[in-house]
Amino acid sequence: MERNRPLTVLGLESSCDDTAAAVVRGADGRADILSSHVWGQADLHGAFGGVVPEIAARAHAERIDICVERALEQAGVTLDDVDGVAVTAGPGLIGGVLAGVMCAKGIAAARGLPIVGVNHLAGHALTPRLTGEADYPYLMLLISGGHCQFLRVDGPEDFHRLGGTIDDAPGEAFDKVARLLGLNQPGGPEVERAAQTGDAGRFALPRPLLDRAGCDLSFSGLKTAVLRARDAVMAEKGGLTTTDRTDIAASFQAAVVDVLAEKTRRALAASARVGTLAVAGGVAANGAIRAALQLVADDAGVAFTAPPLSLCTDNAAMIAYAGLLRLERGESDGLAFPARPRWPLDTQAPAMLGAGKKGAKA
Ligand code: KG4
Ligand code: ZN
Repeated sequence: MERNRPLTVLGLESSCDDTAAAVVRGADGRADILSSHVWGQADLHGAFGGVVPEIAARAHAERIDICVERALEQAGVTLDDVDGVAVTAGPGLIGGVLAGVMCAKGIAAARGLPIVGVNHLAGHALTPRLTGEADYPYLMLLISGGHCQFLRVDGPEDFHRLGGTIDDAPGEAFDKVARLLGLNQPGGPEVERAAQTGDAGRFALPRPLLDRAGCDLSFSGLKTAVLRARDAVMAEKGGLTTTDRTDIAASFQAAVVDVLAEKTRRALAASARVGTLAVAGGVAANGAIRAALQLVADDAGVAFTAPPLSLCTDNAAMIAYAGLLRLERGESDGLAFPARPRWPLDTQAPAMLGAGKKGAKA
């Protein structure tokens, strides 16, 4: 087969609380990551218990060009070597998305480069292609602080949403439970650590939406159930012991695991010809969740893959790669495309209801 000339693509990401730039180079659907620089904002938002959109937007605007410089430097290239620019054009917190889009458009205009506006969710969803670990079609479970959905990925621009959260994302629930237990943020790793020594059977917490057919999920009621369980213990004892904390954490995590496993089973059953289950997003770091998904995949006779953590969480390499797939087909968006706070990947699927703290869930 004739191989195309490799393209070098600069990617920018600024849709939530990570400012990122990356350079990838590749052809024919394959790419190498030459650099991937991520500047997280956790320290800026930590005191507020969630991402503050205005603070995020300002930080993105101040840092995005520095990220681009670092990504180019780490890749050992200059803008002279870049064949195209890819930038997250949504969905996300609009001030941040705009900061990235304006920087990317400035570079494209100044250098006469083609530019593509990438859907952030497509970036996550295509990551198993970037790592070379899944053939189309595959099933992607995207679970983070801002996203929660099942996508069947049939091609680089062919996504079908099989279901998703009707309220919160699971990462939000982990963060909230950490706050309820007096643990640090981000809450996911802290709750997972506490859960390791806890008794998952001590508190009977709900498994939301398991009684409803399909693959939609809900985490809001589970959060409230944890609040009630904690308050009941506090009312009885006047405080929480370490054991109370670890037992609540373990009971909560077990509920999340049960719900994700069962809904994934259903999503796989509804996805003919899918050979791989892939997971991405910050919550995919959770060992108990990964182990449960591995079992679900084994039972269904499909492969299981989770990208390395640096590619699970928000990054610009996935954006550059999604852009590369379009640029190598000769597509580009010109300089007039908008920044979009909401941008569902699958326009045929019914709109999602949730719009959590970390931005719109498309
Ligand atoms: O993908 P991500 O870095 O950012 C966005 O939400 O876009 O995901 C962050 C989320 C946080 O809510 C964090 O608590 C959660 O992922 N998380 C975890 C774990 N590590 C991070 N949740 C459960 N278990 C973990 N080990
Ligand atoms: Zn993301």
